[in-house]
Amino acid sequence: MVDNAIEISKIDPTQNPTLAAQIDSILDEHRGKPGSLMVILNEVQAKVGFVSEQIQSYIGAALRIPVSKVHGVISFYSFFTTRPRGKHTIKFCMGTACYVGGAAQLIDKAKQLVGIDLGKTTEDGNVTLEECRCVGACSQAPVVVIDETIHGRVKPSKMAQLIRSIERQDAAEG
Ligand code: FES
Repeated sequence: MVDNAIEISKIDPTQNPTLAAQIDSILDEHRGKPGSLMVILNEVQAKVGFVSEQIQSYIGAALRIPVSKVHGVISFYSFFTTRPRGKHTIKFCMGTACYVGGAAQLIDKAKQLVGIDLGKTTEDGNVTLEECRCVGACSQAPVVVIDETIHGRVKPSKMAQLIRSIERQDAAEG
């Protein structure tokens, strides 16, 4: 489903020449190679930041494969996002140490506080919740990464405070 809050030109390469050019260069580089679909989708996610339904159709058409195949990959791997990220991203490390250390409880708490699921962005475009792989701070597990800042040994009871710190930062920026 396309969120009406997002301008279609931002997520549809057929209406956005810059976006199309970014995707075309990735397609040109990898088209025809074994396992190319996964590589292409990964690179699009890294470069563009998301793989919208319109981008999935565009890639399917370019590779001459059914869009359902592209969609299948996107929905299987949770690190793909189908819409632009919010202004702030809260990432939960799902590496072993963090997982064992209680990442799932942190995610539950954040979902409850922000009111969205993992992989989604709030309606106002302010916050995105995501999971991520080990960020190399295992001794501080469980770890939450807010924008570029790593917060270690986070407890569910601290999530509200962390989320408020984002709001305070926004208020300070005006
Ligand atoms: S497992 Fe989370 S930082 Fe390594």
